[in-house]
Amino acid sequence: SGDRTHKIAAIPADGIGPEVIGAGLEVLHALQQRSDGLRFEITQFDWGSDYYREHGKMMPEDGLAQLRKHDAIYFGAVGAPDIADHITLWGLRLPICQGFDQYANVRPTRILPGIPTPLRDRGVGDLDWVIVRENSEGEYSGHGGRAHRGLPEEVATEVAIFTRVGVTRIMRFAFRIAQSRPRKLLTVVTKSNAQRFGLVLWDEIAAEVSTEFPDVKWDKVLVDAMTVRMTLHPESLDTIVATNLHADILSDLAGALAGSLGVAPTANIDPERRFPSMFEPIHGSAFDITGKGIANPIASFWTACQMLDHLGEAEASARLMKAIETVCSAGISTPDVGGTATTREVTDAVIKAIFGSN
Ligand code: NAI
Ligand code: MG
Repeated sequence: SGDRTHKIAAIPADGIGPEVIGAGLEVLHALQQRSDGLRFEITQFDWGSDYYREHGKMMPEDGLAQLRKHDAIYFGAVGAPDIADHITLWGLRLPICQGFDQYANVRPTRILPGIPTPLRDRGVGDLDWVIVRENSEGEYSGHGGRAHRGLPEEVATEVAIFTRVGVTRIMRFAFRIAQSRPRKLLTVVTKSNAQRFGLVLWDEIAAEVSTEFPDVKWDKVLVDAMTVRMTLHPESLDTIVATNLHADILSDLAGALAGSLGVAPTANIDPERRFPSMFEPIHGSAFDITGKGIANPIASFWTACQMLDHLGEAEASARLMKAIETVCSAGISTPDVGGTATTREVTDAVIKAIFGSN
């Protein structure tokens, strides 16, 4: 029951964005054909660097109002060689994250079958994590300033902001994810030995919120020790929660340990569902390979799984994930993960697997 029509705003944007989002939309179309009642209403937006060259901005003034009418946003990547990165990033992607209060950034990381990991003697099943990144405050709050520019006494501050509301809501979200996974295990990343205020508050709130989740086992690890544990004992981790900066760094490490940037997905979630959430591959616009037809579409497929889960389409999500795994284990993969296939060939194989599965 329920309306199973989902309004998706697709923003392919720059570089390989249109290649991988185009592939992702084909896969969504296949899932729709495969499943009775499931329907996607896709609206494509031509925002990004081309739009900027024509209009002097990355999206129109009323961009957020246009997006607001949708159930989810499917985003490619921004970035162009001839436009400064802070313009492309702050002009499109960040205003969406901030304007829609997408305070939870979720990054599933897993070694997929057929994708080689740089970790010696490890493979499928040894690394299966969900990293939850605080996405609205912390070290990236944008609070700070500079004085006495250019003078010997020049000073710059970059203030990390931790609020009780902000920390509590991300902890609850992370505990809930941990609770939903079979191992019910959460690791809270901290640095409260050196950062005596914000991160001590972070630890205290973790302990408070943990009492609401008596069935979740949790522990605390300092961020530096965490890099060691991720590398040497990946199987000891399951769900991970960290501040904006810490999770930014740790999730790049996680992506590398799992094989490639080309397979890593992410979701920017408003857990209260006041606004549409945004789903995207972690990678950027990759202009070194744009137009060559070899962009790995797996990250954009995997984030489509995240989007389907968020939309309540668990069955379609599982079907797509199974198709991804089938294709990866068959060795049909793009050059970034050691294969010889094109974006087209990987996409066709995934679509075939969607129709081939029960
Ligand atoms: P990048 O992620 O675009 O590329 C890094 C390397 O990984 C490149 O060699 C690229 O070819 C490869 N790569 C990335 N995705 C791939 C895929 N799907 N298949 C195969 N290979 C893939 O990062 P880079 O080069 O640092 O940045 C390029 C532009 O992207 C910059 O303008 C940057 O600001 C922007 N960027 C945007 C992001 C976003 O929109 N969320 C995130 C990261 C970077
Ligand atoms: Mg990063």
